Amino acid sequence: MKNKPALLGGLTIKEFLCDYWQKKPLLIRQAVPGFKGLLTPQQLIELSCMEDAQARLVKQSRGGWQLAHGPFDPDEMAKLRGKWTVLVQGVNHVLPEAAELLKRFDFIPHARLDDLMVSYAPKGGGVGPHFDAYDVFLLQGVGHRRWQISTQDDRSLIPDAPLRILQNFHVEQEWILEAGDMLYLPPHCGHNGIAEDDCMTYSIGFRTPAYQELGEQFLVYLQDRICIDGVYADPDLKTQTHPSEIGSDMLHQVGRAIRQVRWDDEDVANFLGSYLSEPKPHIYFDAPAKPLPRARFEQALQTRGIALDLKTQMLCRGSTVFINGDSYPVGKGSYRALRELADKRQLSAAAKLTHEAVELLYEFYLDGYIELASSKRR
Ligand code: SIN
Ligand code: CO
Repeated sequence: MKNKPALLGGLTIKEFLCDYWQKKPLLIRQAVPGFKGLLTPQQLIELSCMEDAQARLVKQSRGGWQLAHGPFDPDEMAKLRGKWTVLVQGVNHVLPEAAELLKRFDFIPHARLDDLMVSYAPKGGGVGPHFDAYDVFLLQGVGHRRWQISTQDDRSLIPDAPLRILQNFHVEQEWILEAGDMLYLPPHCGHNGIAEDDCMTYSIGFRTPAYQELGEQFLVYLQDRICIDGVYADPDLKTQTHPSEIGSDMLHQVGRAIRQVRWDDEDVANFLGSYLSEPKPHIYFDAPAKPLPRARFEQALQTRGIALDLKTQMLCRGSTVFINGDSYPVGKGSYRALRELADKRQLSAAAKLTHEAVELLYEFYLDGYIELASSKRR
């Protein structure tokens, strides 16, 4: 990773993280010089019509805003007129070029990355002024988009609208972005993007999980791991006036027992790795139709190398690798190679692999989590 990637204009990664990340917006002209986009409007519309598409269609008329969820009907899409926009999430799960584009953002840990969303709108289209709870890089593809932003504190929304639209949007700054320009927005920065012409925008979104959600999920994780000895006992039971009341002795005894529930950093790391690498509910992996036997797989590994399936999420910590919600504690040598795979989403044929790593990779291959390099991508 270059210290001053073109992506951040003249800034070093350190400067960007220090001065802008999670703090203030940044416009970077020609962040990706020569960027023409990764797919055409028609291809995006086709994606929005696919069975498992995570797609939204926003229409704006004098009557207000309308929102529909995909998958859409191609004939209905062809009939659209006026101000509308279609947005497709998870484009990096289906398009290898999109996964490559995300690698440019590797200066942010993978655990923070959500996905690449791509939108298309004809002139006038947009999703209205709103704010998001997460960080986003808005990279302009074909066409032009007028971005208006506001750091206002007033976050009141239009009541009963089908999507979150700011009621009082006070534009503080605005720019017109062309292909290759990019706007970084920290969480809760108000923004409004209006298509100036046929316009496609690539949103690189990051996740900011709420502590409430993390806490709830951590308790789910912990329930299979806690171990509290003993059973309730009351050999000194006293009479009580109201038999329906829960006595203080019982309360304190159970309180003491529950306080035996303990966890450490390793539990938190294991929980985080599994939780953050868990695929979203609509994601499924296809096992290879005709899997190679173990020995042939190992040979292919050493001649072709491997790559993560586009939908795979892989994270690491300590001596554990996490892949699509599962965790695997491994030895040092295996960890080094598997971390390389997680970092780069690919491993060259020359990579040194332990027997343990090959065994695991074979398991991942059978699950459809990885694929041999240069085989045709789905
Ligand atoms: C868009 O691409 O039209 C919307 C992106 C956003 O506002 O987050
Ligand atoms: Co937004």
